[in-house]
Amino acid sequence: MKTLTILGLETSCDETAAAIVRGRPPGPGAILSNIVFSQNEAHAPYGGVVPEIASRAHLEILDGEIERALSEANLAWNDIDAVAATAGPGLIGGVMVGLTTAKALALGLTKPLIAVNHLAGHALTARLTAGVAFPFLLLLVSGGHCQLLAVADVDDYRLYGATMDDAVGEAFDKTAKILGLPYPGGPNVEARARHGNAKAYALPRPLLGRDGMDFSFSGLKTAVRQLASQGGLNVDDACASFQAAVIDILRDRTQQALVKFRADFPENTRPSLVVAGGVAANQAIGSALKDLAQRHGFEISVPPPAYCTDNAAMIAWAGLERFALGKRDPLDVSPRARWPLHASGEGNHSGQRQNGA
Ligand code: KG4
Ligand code: ZN
Repeated sequence: MKTLTILGLETSCDETAAAIVRGRPPGPGAILSNIVFSQNEAHAPYGGVVPEIASRAHLEILDGEIERALSEANLAWNDIDAVAATAGPGLIGGVMVGLTTAKALALGLTKPLIAVNHLAGHALTARLTAGVAFPFLLLLVSGGHCQLLAVADVDDYRLYGATMDDAVGEAFDKTAKILGLPYPGGPNVEARARHGNAKAYALPRPLLGRDGMDFSFSGLKTAVRQLASQGGLNVDDACASFQAAVIDILRDRTQQALVKFRADFPENTRPSLVVAGGVAANQAIGSALKDLAQRHGFEISVPPPAYCTDNAAMIAWAGLERFALGKRDPLDVSPRARWPLHASGEGNHSGQRQNGA
C-alpha cells in the first residue's frame, strides 16, 4: 500500500490544531508537523471552556496554523493526499470552524475530504505512535468522555462501559476548581498530588467492586466539595486522595474489561490495553494501569502526553486510516455535537444530515 500524507484539523474544544502525518496502517506513522495552540489562557478566568470564545479563537488562529503545518513539514499543497477534520463530537461552533475550513481546502485544492470522529482520533493514536494492532482494549479518558471499548477495526467499536455521570477529566477539572487550582485542572491536580498523602482523606469510590464496566464520578466530586466546605483543607493531600480514588475506580472497572476482552477475542494471545484521551497524560494513572495490564498478560500502550491531549496529528492519522480503506466524505457532511464512537460505522459517514447532533 502507498504511503499517504494527510493534513488534519482539530477544533472541537479549546485546542486549535493543525498537523500533517505520513504513513500507512497499522502504523506507526511519521508526524511531519504538529501545531497546537491551547486557548487555556482565554478560558482560565471562567474556570472552563466558553464555547463562544473558543469558536472565535479557532477562526482567528486556524488559517495561520495550517500554513505553519505545511511549512514546518516542508511540503507543498500538492504533497497532501487528503484533508481530514474533526466533524464531532464537540462544541458545535468550534467543530464548524474546522470542518468548514477543511471543506474549503478540499474544494479549492480538489483533494478528498475525510470527516473524523474526535474520539476515533484518540482511539487510533496508539497506532500512529506505536503501531498497535487490532483488536485492542481501549480505556478512553478525556474531559468529555470515560469509556471502555473493544476496538476491533477502524470503524468497529464495541462499548463495554461508560460513565453514568461525569467524565473523569471533568472530575479532575471540577475538583481543581473546588480546591482553587487553575484551569485546566488535571495537570494541576496531578502536580499537587505528588506532594500529598493519598490516605489523608477518605473519599468514596462509586461502583467499586460491583459487576460491570460503567463508571461514576459525581459522588467523588461531591465528597471533595463537602470536604472543602469544612475548611482547613490540605490541598496536596486532597489532590492525592482524590487521585487515588480515581485510580481505584479506573483499575476496578478496567480489570473487568480485560477479562471480558480475553473472552471476546480468545485468538488474540498478546492483547493490548490502550489508554487514550487527555487524562492518559496522568503518570500515576498510567503506572497503575500498567501494573494491572501486566498482571493480566496485556501489553499496555499509552501515547506520549502531547498526543494524549487534543491535537491534530491524531485527527490526521484517523483520517489516514479511513482514507486507506477508500473512504471519503461529501462536502455537505454535517458537523455533529454528539457522535458516539460505538455507532461510528458507515451509516454516520454517509453524509446524511443528522438531526439532534
Ligand atoms: O482529550 P482532551 O485534551 O480533551 C477532550 O477531548 O476532552 O482531555 C482534556 C482533559 C481535561 O479534563 C484535563 O484536565 C485532563 O484531560 N487532563 C488530565 C491531565 N492532563 C490533562 N487529567 C489528569 N491528569 C493529567 N495529567
Ligand atoms: Zn479530546
